[in-house]
Parts: sequence; C-alpha cells; structure tokens
Amino acid sequence: MSIVIRIDPPLGGPLAAQADAIIQALVRAADDPAVAVSVWPSHLADLAALVRDGDTRTIRLIVEPADERHDAAASAGGFSRVRELYQLRRPLPLEQALIDATPAINTRSFVPGADETAWVEVNNRAFAWHEDQAGWTVADLVAREAEPWFDPNGVLLFEHDGRLVGFCWTKVHTDSDPPLGEIYVIAVDPDFHGLGIGRSLAVAGLDHLAKAGITTGMLYVEANNEPALRLYRSLGFRVHHHQRHYIFVSEAGDRSPVPNQPAGPGPYGLDR
Ligand SMILES: CC(C)(COP(=O)(O)OP(=O)(O)OC[C@H]1O[C@@H](n2cnc3c(N)ncnc32)[C@H](O)[C@@H]1OP(=O)(O)O)[C@@H](O)C(=O)NCCC(=O)NCCS
Repeated sequence: MSIVIRIDPPLGGPLAAQADAIIQALVRAADDPAVAVSVWPSHLADLAALVRDGDTRTIRLIVEPADERHDAAASAGGFSRVRELYQLRRPLPLEQALIDATPAINTRSFVPGADETAWVEVNNRAFAWHEDQAGWTVADLVAREAEPWFDPNGVLLFEHDGRLVGFCWTKVHTDSDPPLGEIYVIAVDPDFHGLGIGRSLAVAGLDHLAKAGITTGMLYVEANNEPALRLYRSLGFRVHHHQRHYIFVSEAGDRSPVPNQPAGPGPYGLDR
C-alpha cells in the first residue's frame, strides 16, 4: 500500500508540522484497509480543517492499491474521488502468435541532446487532454533524463519521412518483486492515430523489456482512456490494481464545517 498526500500550496509554519503529523498517522494506518476505514475519516477531516482557514488550498490523496473501503473512508473525511488509474500487468515475453500478428516497425533509441524538441511536440499533441502528461517542456524531459533509472535505449522512437510519429518509453523497476518492465509513456501523434502504430510500438517496447530479462510487463492507464485500454486488453494486459485520487478543495474564507466530519479520536488523530 502506498499513499501520497499533497497540499497545494504547501502549508507553512506550525500548521505544516501539524499536517505532517496527521499525514504520518494516515500513512501508518494505510497498510490495513480496515484500519484505514476506521481512522481515515477523522484524520482526513482534521487535515481539511487545518487548511480550511487559509488561502485556497487543495489536498490530494493518492491511494494505491485502492478499493471501495478507501472510497468510503475518503468520502466520510470530506474528500471527493476525482481520478482513477488502473495498473495493468501481463506476463512476458509476448506469445509468438501475438508478435506475428502485429506489423513490425523499425524503431531507434532516443538520443539525448538531439530528440527532445520532437519528443515534446508529439507528447504534447497526443496528451493535450491529460492531467500529468500534457504541456511538458524540454526542461521537464531533461529532468527525467537525469534520473538514475533513465535509459535512452529503452525509449523507442518511430519516425516516418524524417518526422517523429510516436514513441514507447519503457522503464525497468528492479526494486520491485517481481521486477517490473513498465510502458512508462507511449504516444502516437494524432495525425497518425488508428493506423496500427500504437500497437506496433507497444509490442516493440514489450519485446525490448522481455529481451532485457523482464518477465512481467506493467503500465498505468486512466480508467477512462478507452482507446489505450482497448489496445492493452488486446495485448493481454489485465487490471492488477487501482490507483485512486481524492481531493478536498478549501476556498479562501470558507469557514463552513467540513462535510460529514465524524467525531475524531483526538486532536489531529494522533492517538495512533
Ligand atoms: C493509445 C495510442 C498510443 C494508440 O495508438 P494508435 O496508433 O492510434 O493505435 P492503433 O492504431 O495501433 O490501434 C490499436 C488498438 O487500439 C484501440 N484503439 C485505438 N484507437 C482507438 C479509438 N479511437 N477508440 C477505441 N479504440 C481504439 C483499438 O483496440 C485498436 O485495435 P483495432 O484497430 O484492432 O481495433 C494513441 O491513441 C495515443 O497516442 N493516445 C494518446 C496518448 C495515450 O493515451 N497513451 C496511452 C497512455 S496509457
């Protein structure tokens, strides 16, 4: 179980320490969903009450794996579910029949220092609607390239007539058990959608991971990204678990009570 809590903009001064204590209590309770259901509502309501008197602030709670018990606990704490992603997995290597049924395309590796502008352009055109992936800058990409896990050979580019058409960026997670080979970002320029390129790129990326010895393929996809979901299902991916995002939005000057605030176990729920 992992939970991430972001307060935006961050709290300062003593409130930050109080918020941190609540967040630590939430994190400690997160491993057991039954405990989460019983103590989260009061902790979340305490957190919401902390930010309620300040400038406009959003608290985002990201829970993985999440189920209906976390939905109930978040809702009772005054948080609304705003986003759901699936983590999909499938065994690797791909079956030969699946590879044979997919037209092969020639890809090349990403070249740092040369491919950033074209990559960002295709990414931003394909993900214009996406919460995290839209509006990337070259600087955002260069920052990822500086990460220790970045491997330019795992970023497969497909070009046509000298133009970047699509890419499949893979990422290996050696620290997970089993080691996971992720399709980290995949996109095809909208001018070329529906031509089978996304499927060929995904197969090329998964083949690259399998050749590196990875036996489990993984990716995250928005629960409402129907084109991508259809592609992944047809490649044999199945839902492994859900990641859910819940938010609380505090309007500046809004002193109304936090909705559904249950009786808490003590100041900021710190009895756990
Ligand atoms: C997802 C994406 C990479 C697919 O690329 P593509 O080249 O258009 O897809 P393909 O032509 O290879 O189609 C493969 C399968 O995807 C599904 N699919 C593709 N476009 C679809 C659409 N508009 N509606 C429903 N299903 C669609 C179909 O199952 C299709 O197989 P079929 O043609 O046999 O029915 C592309 O739509 C894209 O770049 N989307 C924006 C970025 C994104 O969402 N990336 C995935 C994030 S997890």
